[in-house]
Amino acid sequence: MDPKITGLLSRLTEAGQAHLLGFWDNLSPDERTALSQELQILDFQEINGFFKRAMESFSCTKNEKMDARMEPVPQEVLGSVTRDRGSLKRWEQKGLECISQSKVAVLLLAGGQGTRLGVSYPKGMYDVGLPSHKTLFQIQAERILKLQHLAEEKNKRKCIIPWYIMTSGRTMESTKDFFSRLNYFGLDKKNVVFFQQGMLPAMDYDGKIIMESKSKLSMAPDGNGGLYRALGNQGILDDMQRRGIEFIHVYCVDNILVKVADPAFAGFCMEKDADCGAKVVEKSNPTEAVGVVCKVDGLYQVVEYSEITLATAEKRSPDGRLMFNAGNVANHFFRFSFLKDIVEMYEPKLEHHVARKKIPFVDAQGQLITPDKPNGIKMEKFVFDIFQFAKTFAVYEVLREDEFSPLKNADRQDGKDTPSTARHALMSLHHRWVLNAGGHFIDENGSRVPAIPSLKDGTDLPIKCEISPLVSYGGEGLETLVKDREFHPTLIIDKNGVHELVKNGV
Ligand code: UTP
Repeated sequence: MDPKITGLLSRLTEAGQAHLLGFWDNLSPDERTALSQELQILDFQEINGFFKRAMESFSCTKNEKMDARMEPVPQEVLGSVTRDRGSLKRWEQKGLECISQSKVAVLLLAGGQGTRLGVSYPKGMYDVGLPSHKTLFQIQAERILKLQHLAEEKNKRKCIIPWYIMTSGRTMESTKDFFSRLNYFGLDKKNVVFFQQGMLPAMDYDGKIIMESKSKLSMAPDGNGGLYRALGNQGILDDMQRRGIEFIHVYCVDNILVKVADPAFAGFCMEKDADCGAKVVEKSNPTEAVGVVCKVDGLYQVVEYSEITLATAEKRSPDGRLMFNAGNVANHFFRFSFLKDIVEMYEPKLEHHVARKKIPFVDAQGQLITPDKPNGIKMEKFVFDIFQFAKTFAVYEVLREDEFSPLKNADRQDGKDTPSTARHALMSLHHRWVLNAGGHFIDENGSRVPAIPSLKDGTDLPIKCEISPLVSYGGEGLETLVKDREFHPTLIIDKNGVHELVKNGV
């Protein structure tokens, strides 16, 4: 045996993972090279340590209910776009001012595998079927461009909102290639920074690494909380520091309504002097499977629906709203100094969460088996695991219909979080923007469509209307284009003006 492989084998044997070379004698030269390269870079003692700690904490907490230790978000850290209308302008101005000083960056979590959506390319490249056929990446890029312009106009200085994009080993090349082919959607290439999160092997319940073929380990990204380790080891914190970034907006790729670098949310967090801010939507149904932001033993945390009893989930405040109603949507503002402390001090203390999964594996005969029940675990950290370390925390409640419609699943009848629901959510938001700006819609019979659409006939299809983010970031600036005008859907408002498309073309 090649001495390099002998060395590897002894490292694996020491770590109880020697089975990974079990098919070595049957592999082709190329397969041997690929496998040994994959194995050389892994630290098996560290992986074993992650497994041990994750399993210990999983078995201690899996049946534990949090109820007695939880308290709702206190009033003094809460802000709301509906209950604090009077403060919105002030927050927005504060946020825009800071953006105009180029102190705000956005950071996109795009390292997931999109298993439920089931496409072979990164989710950000998905086209949900809008009239423009823009992808999620393009929509977000154009919102960044528009916000830069708004901040520049307001404060009369040129600014940059750098865009940090976290990918994984599986999505990096295709994501970079897509941006390059589409010319970074008009953004300056040097302000779009890609970096890669880590991957971890799937393990069986005895801590043995699972192989997905005779020459390949079953690897998956280490969760969106892999962000913190990657920020350090990919030089991203240093890049932020060089650019003088003070605040970072972190969000998920799949929310079609995301207000990238939302200036009002930013200004609110700044006013609260928060290390960390969480945007939330109201959880209105006790059994909705959404994690809620709350305090546990005095520290901020996200508690999953499965971790509380129904009685607690159903508790109501005197105003009739659920007591634990701060639905987490993985949309956060972080102060740079806080992120730096996380990366340098706290990240190693975070344990991985355990997700039991059905993981395809090769058996002793080298046959690929697809199990019908969970046979192992994936280990992940979550972006919100660091809330507990924030000295000052702020929670900002927004309207779900205006700001949150994630793309998780493939289309199917009555499906939740699908391309259709995402497309409809965006078009209904844009429909409301037109109405708010004084425009009207006309149906095929020439009658005005009522502002509140009737759901009779079971048709809850929105009016077809799409407004380019290059024209409006959040509904502003539309009066001159639509006030007192009547439109036939499909209505498109973009940089070239206002157009109505008829069914069979333009
Ligand atoms: P989800 O947990 O919904 O995962 O990610 P997903 O990959 O999009 O979809 P499934 O579960 O495989 O069907 C929420 C956000 O976190 C990012 C995703 O890209 C998405 O923006 N994410 C998730 C990462 O960046 N890294 C990960 O390891 C996991």
